[in-house]
Amino acid sequence: MIEVLNKVHDETKQGEAFAPFAIDTNVYKKHFYIESYGCAMNFSDSEIVASILNDNGFGATKNHEEADLILINTCSIRDKAEQVIRKRLTEFRILKREKKGLLIGVLGCMAERLKAKLLEEEKLVDLVIGPDAYRSLPTLIEEAETGQKGVNVLLSRDETYGDISPVRLNSNGVTAFVSITRGCNNMCSFCVVPFTRGRERSREAKSIIAEAKDLFDKGYREVTLLGQNVDSYKFETENEVVTFANLLELTAQISSELRVRFSTSHPKDITDEVLFTMKKYDNICKCIHLPVQSGNTRVLELMNRTYTREWYISKIDRIREIMPECSITSDFIAGFCTETEEEHKDTLSIMEYSRFDYAYMYYYSERPGTLAERKYEDDIPEEIKKRRLQEIIDVQSRLSRENNQHDLGQIYEVLIEAESKKNSNDWKGRNTHNKVLVFSKGNYGYKAGDYVNVKVNRVTQGTLLGEIVPQP
Ligand code: SAM
Ligand code: SF4
Ligand code: F3S
Repeated sequence: MIEVLNKVHDETKQGEAFAPFAIDTNVYKKHFYIESYGCAMNFSDSEIVASILNDNGFGATKNHEEADLILINTCSIRDKAEQVIRKRLTEFRILKREKKGLLIGVLGCMAERLKAKLLEEEKLVDLVIGPDAYRSLPTLIEEAETGQKGVNVLLSRDETYGDISPVRLNSNGVTAFVSITRGCNNMCSFCVVPFTRGRERSREAKSIIAEAKDLFDKGYREVTLLGQNVDSYKFETENEVVTFANLLELTAQISSELRVRFSTSHPKDITDEVLFTMKKYDNICKCIHLPVQSGNTRVLELMNRTYTREWYISKIDRIREIMPECSITSDFIAGFCTETEEEHKDTLSIMEYSRFDYAYMYYYSERPGTLAERKYEDDIPEEIKKRRLQEIIDVQSRLSRENNQHDLGQIYEVLIEAESKKNSNDWKGRNTHNKVLVFSKGNYGYKAGDYVNVKVNRVTQGTLLGEIVPQP
């Protein structure tokens, strides 16, 4: 038996996770090694790729030196993300010189953005395959084995990989991602995703529910429904239309023991129906990721976000009205084209108003081919972008600290995910608000996948520290 590892180097710091799982080497004569960068969608795609490769005689390995095929599932969201990948390719280049027959493939958003150009720029790359073309991997690998380089970056209007059962690559056996949509139809002017992932399409509801149920039957206790804009999920058949609220409800009904999360919600699309469905089911986690990007209406308009500051605030108010305890997290971009100091201050003030529990914060990185690159000048000097970003980070750090203080003394139901990396006597899990809790195992005999009540005794900026409250 060997262990398999799917590394998620998350440039956006969303969903980083490493965990080995075992696979029988005897079944496979050839092995692939995969590294994933970027968002949870990419990580989820790597599990689809693993499934396709398993079916075609390739087992996974966590050791790249043992691999016959090295795959790197890439992200293009910011320039820095691409630079990290280029550097990693340089390292693999050395391996390729040392090992005859080793194939190197670039998958994902950077493959889609650069297409065949990537083969020119990175001479030792053998395969370039976009996010909608993974079914062609086996054929392209066969061709590459004869020395022919392979490219397939065709985007599709209907590919959802709905019939492919993902191979859980870095699973803790408790939590899993389930893709519900692919692509994006929102042309946010700063964003490369509509170009790298294509048109939005919703996966068949039946296959989503079947995947979530199968996970539950295998012992998983939490699923995160994934899409760039989950609120626009819509699957229509002759007889019915399944909306995101319907899908959420169907998933929650699989079992009250299965927690349901979702990401990402779009402020323009999130509905009362979704909020009331969340409220109705205890096992739908009370946590919404609602990226605002900017707190200023003029900048939001330039970003083509299609909502105003007031609209966003009304959504925050509505969430708080329906679920006062719901945690809300967000994304920000500092220093977008033409942003003034006053407009930047509007972002700081919307943060104070919304009191986000957590945020992903970036400064604007111009991406080739996007609407913003074509229409606006990237005119905010880097040092100003960085200073504004630092101000955003400072406000958020304070808000996160203050929010965590409110957790002191609270008792939360926690789903145990794994042993704490720092101390094998401790468990690590999360509460409904997606906050990480670390607590002593004691002599209770709990295991990963169990629910346990934990009282918060101490807080740090990122983690709540607590103790098990014995069940009566
Ligand atoms: N679909 C999600 C939404 O609309 O909120 C966002 C998905 S995107 C993969 C994740 C985050 O990256 C965005 O919310 C945005 O804050 C950030 N981002 C996207 N393009 C960017 C750019 N050109 N420069 C800096 N940050 C960017
Ligand atoms: Fe990008 Fe906007 Fe789509 Fe999110 S909604 S993926 S930011 S285009
Ligand atoms: Fe990156 Fe593509 Fe996700 S650009 S953030 S991996 S959709």
